[in-house]
Amino acid sequence: MKKHLITALSAAGIVALAAAQSEAREYKIGFIGPMSGGAAQLGQQMERGARLYMKLHPNELGGNTVKMIVRDSKRPGGPIAKAAAQELITREKVELITGLIFSPNAMSVAPLATKAKVPVVIMNAGTAFIPNMSPYMVRVSFTMWQAGFIMGQHAAGKLGCKTAVSGYTNYPPGKDSIAAFRKGFEASGGKIVDEIPMGSPAKVPDFTPFFQRTKSKKPNCLYVFVPAGNHASAVAKTYQSLAMRKAGIALVGPGDITQDTQLQGMGSAAVGVVTAHHYHMFLKSKENQGFLKAWKAEYGKNSVPDFVGVGGYDGMAAVYAAIKASNGGRITADGAMKTLRGWKFNSPRGPISIDAETRDIVQNVYISVVRQSGGKLVQEVQQKFDAVKDKCKELKLGKCGKKLY
Ligand code: PHB
Repeated sequence: MKKHLITALSAAGIVALAAAQSEAREYKIGFIGPMSGGAAQLGQQMERGARLYMKLHPNELGGNTVKMIVRDSKRPGGPIAKAAAQELITREKVELITGLIFSPNAMSVAPLATKAKVPVVIMNAGTAFIPNMSPYMVRVSFTMWQAGFIMGQHAAGKLGCKTAVSGYTNYPPGKDSIAAFRKGFEASGGKIVDEIPMGSPAKVPDFTPFFQRTKSKKPNCLYVFVPAGNHASAVAKTYQSLAMRKAGIALVGPGDITQDTQLQGMGSAAVGVVTAHHYHMFLKSKENQGFLKAWKAEYGKNSVPDFVGVGGYDGMAAVYAAIKASNGGRITADGAMKTLRGWKFNSPRGPISIDAETRDIVQNVYISVVRQSGGKLVQEVQQKFDAVKDKCKELKLGKCGKKLY
C-alpha cells in the first residue's frame, strides 16, 4: 500500500515537473539608461539595439518571453540609477539588470547587485575597474583601456607624435582613458606635455579655452575623450575654428569622438581624425552588413547604429544566453555568471568573448581615420588588433588589480 502511494506520488511529481517545464515563462529584466534629458539619444540607441536583438531572435528562448522594464537614469551621476535599480529589484522583482551608459551609474548599482544577488550585464559604462566592484557584473561593451592604450602606441609609433596633450571630460572614464593613452604613448617613446580636465559629462562646455591652452603647448597630437553624445561635434568644431590641424596638431581619440550618429553633423572638421575603437558602422564584415540592414528595416533608412547600439544588441545576446541556461527557472546570479564567463558571440563588431577570470569583454580594436566620400563622412579601417583584453586588469593597475566588494 505504502509502495503504491509512493509510486503514485512520484508519478504525479514527474507530471507536475513536466508541466512546469513546458509552461512558458516571462523573464522580467530591468533596463536602466538615460531616456530623457541631454543623453536621451544614447538611451534610445541602446534600447533600440537591445530590442533589435529580441526581434531578430524570436525562437531562441523556446516559448519563454522577455519583459524589459525600462527605467530612466536621467543624468550621468549615480543616485537616480541606484534608486531605479533598487525599485526594479524589490518591487518589480527583476531577475537581471542591464543597460547602464554612464560609469557612475554602473558603479552605484554594483553594491545592490552584490547584496541582492542580481546579475548585471553592462551594455556601455567603460571605466576599467567596474566589474571588480561586484562578483555579479559582466561587461559586454568596452573598457577605456582597450582604445586608449592602443591609441597611445599608435600615436607615438605610427603617427610619429613625439609630444601629446590629453583633454578629457572630468569623471572616471575620462581619467581612465587618458591614463591608458599615457601608458601606451610613453611606452612607445612619446611625452605627455599636458592633461586638461574639460568639464562634466552633464553639460557640453565651451572647448575654446582648453584647446587654446593645448595650442600654446604646441604638441604633435591632441588626444581627446568625451562621452558619446553632444560633446563630440563641439570638439571637432572647436578644433577646426582654432585651426589646430594647420598648426600641426593631429586630433586623435577613442571612437567616442567620432560616434556614427554624430559624425555627419561634424562636417569637414572631422576629416582626418584618427581613432581606436571596437566598432563603427563602416565595418565591412558580413555580420555588420546584416546588422545594418536589419537596423534600417526596423528604425528607418536614415537611422544608423553606433557603438552604443551595438552594446545594446550584444548585451541582449548575453542576457538571452543567461536566460537559456536557467532552463525555464529563475535566473540566478551564480548561474548567469557561470554561463557568461567565457561566453562567445559573433557580433557586428567582430568576434567577442567574456574573459572567464575578469568578467570583462575581449574584442577587436580598429584604428580608423575619417574621410570624405561621396559627400558623406566615412570611417576607414587602417589597422586591426585581434582579441584585445583590458590592459588595466592585465597589468593589475590600481583598482583594476583589486577586488572591490
Ligand atoms: C562612461 O560613462 O563610462 C562612458 C559614457 C559614454 C562613453 C564612454 C564611456 O562614450
